[in-house]
Amino acid sequence: MIFIGTFLLLLQHLFLMSPFAVSGSHHHRNHSLLADKSALLAFKKTIVFDPKSMLATWTEDGDVCSFAGVRCNKHRHSVVKLNLSRSELTGPLSPIISNLSGLRNLSLSENNFYGIIPPEFSSLQHLHSLLLDSNNLHGPFPEFLSILPNLTVLSLNGNHLTGTLPPSFFSNCTSLANIDLSQNLLTGRIPEEIGNCPGIWNLNLYNNQFTGELPASLANISELYNIDVEYNNLTGELPANIIGKLYSVVSLHLSYNNMVSHDRNTNLEPFFTALANCTELEELEMAGMNLGGRLPSSIGRLSVNLDTMLMQENRISGMIPSEIAHLSNLTVLNLTSNSLNGTIPAEINQMSSLEQLFLSHNLLTGAIPAALCQLPRLGTIPPTLGQCTDLSKLDLSYNKLTGSIPAEISGIREIRRFLNLSHNHLDGPLPIELSKLENVEEIDVSSNNLSGSVFFQISSCIAVKLINFSRNSIEGHLPDSIGDLKNLESFDVSGNHLSGGIPTSLNKIQSLSFLNLSFNNFAGVIPSGGVFNSVTDKSFLAILTTICCVIGIRRIKANVSSGNSVDTELARKQKTPELIHNFPRITYRELLEATEGFEEQRLLGTGGYGRVYKGLLQDGTAIAVKTHYHGRVERVVDSSLMRASRDQSPEVKRMWEVAIGELAELGILCTQESPTTRPTMLDAADDLDRLKRYLSGDTTATFASSLGMSSSTLSDD
Ligand SMILES: *[C@@H]1O[C@H](CO)[C@@H](O)[C@H](O)[C@H]1NC(C)=O
Ligand SMILES: *[C@@H]1O[C@H](CO)[C@@H](O)[C@H](O)[C@H]1NC(C)=O
Ligand SMILES: *[C@@H]1O[C@H](CO)[C@@H](O)[C@H](O)[C@H]1NC(C)=O
Ligand SMILES: *[C@@H]1O[C@H](CO)[C@@H](O)[C@H](O)[C@H]1NC(C)=O
Ligand SMILES: *[C@@H]1O[C@H](CO)[C@@H](O)[C@H](O)[C@H]1NC(C)=O
Ligand SMILES: *[C@@H]1O[C@H](CO)[C@@H](O)[C@H](O)[C@H]1NC(C)=O
Ligand SMILES: *[C@@H]1O[C@H](CO)[C@@H](O)[C@H](O)[C@H]1NC(C)=O
Ligand SMILES: *[C@@H]1O[C@H](CO)[C@@H](O)[C@H](O)[C@H]1NC(C)=O
Ligand SMILES: *[C@@H]1O[C@H](CO)[C@@H](O)[C@H](O)[C@H]1NC(C)=O
Ligand SMILES: *[C@@H]1O[C@H](CO)[C@@H](O)[C@H](O)[C@H]1NC(C)=O
Ligand SMILES: *[C@@H]1O[C@H](CO)[C@@H](O)[C@H](O)[C@H]1NC(C)=O
Ligand SMILES: *[C@@H]1O[C@H](CO)[C@@H](O)[C@H](O)[C@H]1NC(C)=O
Repeated sequence: MIFIGTFLLLLQHLFLMSPFAVSGSHHHRNHSLLADKSALLAFKKTIVFDPKSMLATWTEDGDVCSFAGVRCNKHRHSVVKLNLSRSELTGPLSPIISNLSGLRNLSLSENNFYGIIPPEFSSLQHLHSLLLDSNNLHGPFPEFLSILPNLTVLSLNGNHLTGTLPPSFFSNCTSLANIDLSQNLLTGRIPEEIGNCPGIWNLNLYNNQFTGELPASLANISELYNIDVEYNNLTGELPANIIGKLYSVVSLHLSYNNMVSHDRNTNLEPFFTALANCTELEELEMAGMNLGGRLPSSIGRLSVNLDTMLMQENRISGMIPSEIAHLSNLTVLNLTSNSLNGTIPAEINQMSSLEQLFLSHNLLTGAIPAALCQLPRLGTIPPTLGQCTDLSKLDLSYNKLTGSIPAEISGIREIRRFLNLSHNHLDGPLPIELSKLENVEEIDVSSNNLSGSVFFQISSCIAVKLINFSRNSIEGHLPDSIGDLKNLESFDVSGNHLSGGIPTSLNKIQSLSFLNLSFNNFAGVIPSGGVFNSVTDKSFLAILTTICCVIGIRRIKANVSSGNSVDTELARKQKTPELIHNFPRITYRELLEATEGFEEQRLLGTGGYGRVYKGLLQDGTAIAVKTHYHGRVERVVDSSLMRASRDQSPEVKRMWEVAIGELAELGILCTQESPTTRPTMLDAADDLDRLKRYLSGDTTATFASSLGMSSSTLSDD
């Protein structure tokens, strides 16, 4: 085999050397192509895992210029390009690659090459581009590459390189244009010498641990197009003196560093004035820096090409200057989590390109400007015909906005992703116009003072996945049409004044996985099927508290805390109807014994309703016990109630606990699938009544059974 291989190689050698060779007619043939082939075959041997058989074509008798990922120069003198990116190859980054002496472009991106970057690579004199990003490389930054005169692109993004960025690397970098060292573990300062590389247009250093200030010499790199130094430990004042000279910068990402604004973090004006020189700027990202100061009116003089401005998570205060509206090409504005106050400037409606507006977690007051989505050039638009920009995400949550939700909101038909107006002081009825948001995926208006009812037209929001109407003052019945929301995943109407029955149609929604109906005044039984069988623990508990605890406990709470009036109330209720027990009464102790303390071995199964244990009562009756809250009452019951209970005297506290436990158990029982094992309304009413009597001090008559836990019998087990 070896001989044959050598023979073939020889043959090929002779063939290439021969004057009759078909390929090319160049005069200067030499051994380099053969050497390249042998280097590539040696490289193949170092690969320990090639799941996609990327190197299957790399054989002794194959044509090296036809090897997958390999390209030779025009005259087939040598291999000039090796591209094995995204090939799922695993192996050490072998120094043998440096034998490909004519290589210009090497890309091994997105594989699993490990080890260090071999110093032998410094012999790749013709190298233009070296792409080793997204591998598993360790060790120091390859300083030795500085002697490669034509190195233009260097991407080492997404490895584990450590140590500092040596200044000497930048001593001789006339060709360097594109350098990406992001997502490594590099430390120290960004060397001042970087200013020696006049051709750099792309500088990506994000996600490292660089410290110190941005080097002032960057101001000399007039070609700079992109600077991304996000997620480092850079300090110092915002680099106004650098930025003011970088007239062609298009993308400036400084987020998540420790820089400050001028005048000891109080003045953003100098930086924004300098930024106005960057007339090509499209992306400005300065989030998460704790920057102080106000947004200067000079913000309006930033590049008209500005597309994205991310300044969330800072300490910017004062009003949003109306001049911001001059940024007519801005599509994303994020000022979340600052200390902005005053009203949202009505001029914002001139920002006709705005697609995502995030102003949440500020101190904004006043009303939501109805003009938010009226284009001036269209004049005043009848609310129902309101048309708007492509605003797809609107987040005004966590402010102090007042007034009602403007009906014009429906003009933003294009709200595709979400509308979040939660945690404000908005009032007025839930606007029926919300139903016109056919494309919206999330509507969150929770924690306001909204009134009115949930309109049946809500079913028009066909794309909606999340509806959160919780903690408002919404009343009336939930419309059955909610069941038509085929994409609904999360539905929260807790903490309102909704009444009537729970719409059975909810069980039609396959996608629904979170349902919170608690803290309302719903009546009737919980429907079965659909979500009611498969809800998560949390949402199940939410229903449970609705039906059997919230109504009951609220009343009990009132009774317990209102002392005397309980007696009179009780007296009225003394004429209890005859009890109809069609399920056995079993004490908790009996239950513990029957299931051997809820022994794991007795677990029949777990499901949407919690755990089901098999038990045997002393009289031999087989039972199936469903528990949900076992040992975790505090998870079942509203935490404020539990807290309130903690403050009571031990005696009252014990009574509360008993009551809560009893109600929780009754709740579990209420949700039995089979009507024959479900207590009747009368049973439930009786239970509640017994509890009331107990809570008012009448322990003797009913307490023994009240402590007991309800359970259903298994007829055939
Ligand atoms: C032969 O190839 C080497 C590189 O492998 C190169 O330096 C040399 O100039 C080539 N010689 C001729 C005559 O082409
Ligand atoms: C790589 O190059 C070195 C030095 O030119 C040589 O000794 C070695 O044999 C080459 N390796 C292969 C596999 O071609
Ligand atoms: C390398 O090849 C992949 C696909 O085979 C291609 O997507 C990628 O652009 C190539 N990279 C270079 C630098 O040629
Ligand atoms: C090789 O890299 C250089 C520099 O990045 C680039 O201009 C050239 O297009 C690349 N050549 C090939 C064949 O990919
Ligand atoms: C570098 O590039 C220049 C211009 O393309 C070329 O003349 C020179 O030979 C190259 N140097 C090397 C070592 O490849
Ligand atoms: C700078 O590049 C030249 C060739 O362009 C080379 O001769 C010299 O050694 C390099 N200097 C350093 C410090 O790498
Ligand atoms: C920019 O380059 C000039 C000329 O090379 C030099 O004198 C100056 O110090 C450099 N500026 C900075 C900030 O490095
Ligand atoms: C970077 O800053 C973070 C927090 O500001 C700190 O935990 C970390 O140690 C710093 N890293 C370096 C290398 O200074
Ligand atoms: C902005 O550009 C002007 C004119 O080119 C220049 O005089 C000024 O110094 C620049 N601003 C900054 C902060 O560099
Ligand atoms: C910016 O907006 C102007 C009109 O205001 C428009 O002419 C220009 O094409 C826009 N530029 C970009 C990059 O969208
Ligand atoms: C805006 O900022 C918030 C808070 O940091 C963040 O959750 C959200 O994803 C940001 N949105 C955009 C588009 O940057
Ligand atoms: C906004 O906050 C600033 C301090 O940051 C304060 O001086 C100003 O009075 C506030 N304005 C309003 C309208 O609350």
